[in-house]
Amino acid sequence: MKAVKTPIKNLNNLRIELLEKELMDISYKIKTDDYYGYIPIKDEKNIYNDLEIVDIDLKKVKLFPKNFTELLDDKLNENDLEKLKTSFDIIGDIVILEIPKNLENKKIAIGEAALEFTKRKSVYMKKSPIEGKTRVRKIEFLAGINNPITIHKEHKNRLKLDVSKVYFSPRLATERLKIAEDVKDNEEILDMFCGIGPFPIIIASKKKVKVTAVDINKIAIGYLKENIELNKLKGEITPINQDINNLNINKKFNRIIMNLPGTSYEFLDLAIDLIENNGIINYYEFSSDYTQGINRIDKAASKKNKKVEILSTRKVKSNSPRVWHIAIDARVLD
Ligand SMILES: C[S@@+](CC[C@H](N)C(=O)[O-])C[C@H]1O[C@@H](n2cnc3c(N)ncnc32)[C@H](O)[C@@H]1O
Repeated sequence: MKAVKTPIKNLNNLRIELLEKELMDISYKIKTDDYYGYIPIKDEKNIYNDLEIVDIDLKKVKLFPKNFTELLDDKLNENDLEKLKTSFDIIGDIVILEIPKNLENKKIAIGEAALEFTKRKSVYMKKSPIEGKTRVRKIEFLAGINNPITIHKEHKNRLKLDVSKVYFSPRLATERLKIAEDVKDNEEILDMFCGIGPFPIIIASKKKVKVTAVDINKIAIGYLKENIELNKLKGEITPINQDINNLNINKKFNRIIMNLPGTSYEFLDLAIDLIENNGIINYYEFSSDYTQGINRIDKAASKKNKKVEILSTRKVKSNSPRVWHIAIDARVLD
């Protein structure tokens, strides 16, 4: 089938652009190799001339909600089926569903249908938003085996976690690959909010780097330690269970990753203190535009008489209507 071939670093922006212009064929999966991504397209005539179009085999996407609601045909009426706008997150063997309030009385039937359809081991439903300092959501067991511990595979790496006790989003996989591609061998990296360590693991599996990985959640750091053992890494990772505000470290970093999108701006002063001249801050926040984030980085840098060069900006994923999880890559200069 026809696909646009693009370097990994442009994949996410181009995916969003083609999606927004309704040029992407969402019935097929995007494929990646070490250097390029291949985005399925509907009609090559509408694709701009400067993009490379190739013929490639891509896998069909399983259209979850459609087939899934078909499984529930005899249990829910048409009205209920219409309201069941379920969002699936699949983490390893576990499916996490969002079930509308008015369908909670049918949650077990929905959970069992999800189990049958996805062929995973366990189904849970979201019981709260992502909340608190450790950014964990409450979940409720619905079907299968009640075991919230699983191993999720991402870019050939294994990430072990307990979905009820730590933060993890499979939807950041493309972003993590992009950062890992940008990283150069020998960088000293600080991940200020590492969780179970997906950024450090994906980066260290590809590059010979030293990553200091900090998280306030003791359980997340426990899993990061296991994940270091589970994967074949070229780089070194030092896990630290601490509030980043209390990090007592006497060195500067070539790169700082700040994926705490709700409040990462509160830690920009610290990041500016810890970044090496010419180092890069990978900054994330929830926003409808890039201006607010760029201004925040500029303000923190100018307080220390440093300058900022914005290297790139992108939408990572949609958070709520008109609000995106955005990324800003900023070089900081003395
Ligand atoms: C949104 S999660 C991101 C985790 C990880 N980077 C990922 O992509 O999966 C943010 C993480 O920041 C941690 N956190 C929140 N406040 C912190 C602080 N003051 N110091 C260190 N870690 C913190 C939380 O425990 C959580 O694991």
